[in-house]
Amino acid sequence: DHLRHVESMATLPSGAGKISHLNAVILGEALASEENDLVFPSEDFSRQALVSSPAQYLELYRKSIEDPARFWSAIASEFYWIQKWGEQVYSENLDVTKGDIKIEWFKGGITNICYNALDRNIEAGNGGKVAIYWEGNELDQDGSLTYSELLEKVCQLANYLKDIGVRKGDAVVIYLPMLMELPIAMLACARIGAVHSVVFAGFSADSLSQRIVDCKPKAVITCNAVRRGSKVIYLKDIVDAALVESAKNGVSVDVCLNYENKSAMKRETTKWTEGRDVWWQDTVPKYPTTCAVEWVDAEDPLFLLYTSGSTGKPKGVLHTTGGYMIYTATTFKYAFDYKPSDIYWCTADCGWITGHSYVTYGPLLNGATVIVFEGAPNYPDAGRCWDIVDKYKVTIFYTAPTLVRSLMRDGDEASNFSGFTCNLCYVTRYSRKSLRVLGSVGEPINPSAWRWFFNVVGDARCPISDTWWQTETGGFMITPLPGAWPQKPGSATFPFFGVLPVIVDEKGTEIEGECSGYLCVKNSWPGAFRTLYGDHERYETTYFKPFPGYYFTGDGCSRDKDGYHWLTGRVDDVINVSGHRIGTAEVESALVSHPQCAEAAVVGVEHEVKGQGIYAFVTLVDGVSYSEELKKSLTLAVRKQIGAFAAPDKIHWAPGLPKTRSGKIMRRILRKIASRQLDELGDTSTLADPSVVDQLIALSDC
Ligand code: WTA
Repeated sequence: DHLRHVESMATLPSGAGKISHLNAVILGEALASEENDLVFPSEDFSRQALVSSPAQYLELYRKSIEDPARFWSAIASEFYWIQKWGEQVYSENLDVTKGDIKIEWFKGGITNICYNALDRNIEAGNGGKVAIYWEGNELDQDGSLTYSELLEKVCQLANYLKDIGVRKGDAVVIYLPMLMELPIAMLACARIGAVHSVVFAGFSADSLSQRIVDCKPKAVITCNAVRRGSKVIYLKDIVDAALVESAKNGVSVDVCLNYENKSAMKRETTKWTEGRDVWWQDTVPKYPTTCAVEWVDAEDPLFLLYTSGSTGKPKGVLHTTGGYMIYTATTFKYAFDYKPSDIYWCTADCGWITGHSYVTYGPLLNGATVIVFEGAPNYPDAGRCWDIVDKYKVTIFYTAPTLVRSLMRDGDEASNFSGFTCNLCYVTRYSRKSLRVLGSVGEPINPSAWRWFFNVVGDARCPISDTWWQTETGGFMITPLPGAWPQKPGSATFPFFGVLPVIVDEKGTEIEGECSGYLCVKNSWPGAFRTLYGDHERYETTYFKPFPGYYFTGDGCSRDKDGYHWLTGRVDDVINVSGHRIGTAEVESALVSHPQCAEAAVVGVEHEVKGQGIYAFVTLVDGVSYSEELKKSLTLAVRKQIGAFAAPDKIHWAPGLPKTRSGKIMRRILRKIASRQLDELGDTSTLADPSVVDQLIALSDC
């Protein structure tokens, strides 16, 4: 029965077309024969699910596509608005040939996302429910806040921010690790209509400063230090350096609010700038625990989040309030089949979009209990995640393929070590019986990792929601609904309600049926980003000009005969390292900032654990010779300009780079050399100097 329904899906994206193979880059392992392996949710699971069959999904999906205004306004009506939106639920223009790109949802509706996430749930009688369980880096550190307690903390900080002059529309930069204070700070900004810009606390001072200069915040919120695994990271030192740098670039920040993270560092040893620096614990708790809400228009900005693109400067992705609120709440609910009794843990950091939409907003808008974990998933050992799952009786566990692969490797090593005694295995020594739904995000999950996640972690009992989406999309775009779909390991399955994904060829023509090509979206959805901060033109050029009439995702995708979608990775110069998006241009620019580097070209290569690794070809300035020391100092340049997570995995000395006669670097050839696919170099005769290829190959192992 299931199968028949799935087959009928194939007709949804209209008819069966011919298989059209684009270039190999966008054809990953996705088309392997495994795609036909269907994994069905159990009957018990489907029976209790919010959407329990493909037919039910289809019905809802059709409604959402045929009448988006009606579909989404019915959902939006369940939230609190002090004034309803205008006649027009949404308006959109995604076609550059028809004028400026514009997307608006619920315009004229007046609301507040913090109110909806906290006050509304408290008024519904859930004030005593735990909103956040906090688990520290060390095994014995933890804490929790109920919805009422969380609201009080948020209000105190909101009052403080107002007191120092933060007003509606002002930016606040948040540079914090996964303490409860991070979601508290986000919600406090939202409460008073300030625009938060969270910067992942793994970014370097240079990167932080670049973001500060771009958004000119009224305040920066940080903490003195954090312990992650066995390391201590001195965050305030990084902020101090960033603020010095920002001031040099004409942006000075008056207030730096510091949380004293005692387990990592005492205040006595923290460097201090009088007049600018303030201790959170000395100040914020003195403020009242209630704070009136700043009511905002649905289209008022909620946050800015910087992300990497294929060219140099990071892009400030801007999300607004109303549509984002409705979209994150709805996607969270359906993709994880959320029930009020669930305990939900997403391992992402709030410094990335996943932490915005699916640690903070989506779950709290649903009144969920969320786990915020400060530490590293393999500390003190590779069993930590399952220890946390058992400790809090986690029912929904959402993570990235890179973590799955690294735990899979550690788990295997452990079982080898112990002669296959499974009690000692990092996973099976924990019960994990509370789990009922698993989730994956950030990069394509390869079928073998999928199976390990499903069989070992989930005991073949828990469906996996492989959620495909982006910083720009605000929320899930293509995702299984766990009770509805038989799954195919490695496929993100079908579009979420209201989303019309299409696959186009190089010319931008939609291709139908079984096919592969570039993934675009044909319509707007409430969670879509509205612009790039301060650069609407770049927004249009990057996302809407490549294929006029569509939002271009930057991803390759194939669709199989059953209509399942298989994401095959980026088709632009963005690489995805451990689920972190890194622009090759950013790494190149960090490398060439090194005085001894003349030129650099960076490509992504397959990496067993990280998904992709960073592979850098480096040409030195004349007269400088190769050395291990120089490799280290080049790597340091990247760590300094971007952050440790962007450090190259391999530096390949390049006396010259393969260029066309017009001077364009042929990355296709570099990718092949990097992945040692030397018999697939293709035609090198168009190179200005074909001999550089042999030189590069000869230097492969240096
Ligand atoms: C990739 C993270 C395959 C994709 C939410 C996208 C995925 C980029 C998946 C966005 C998935 C994310 N399957 N690929 N389930 N999820 N991606 O902005 O290449 O950090 O374009 O957002 O990650 O990364 P971002």
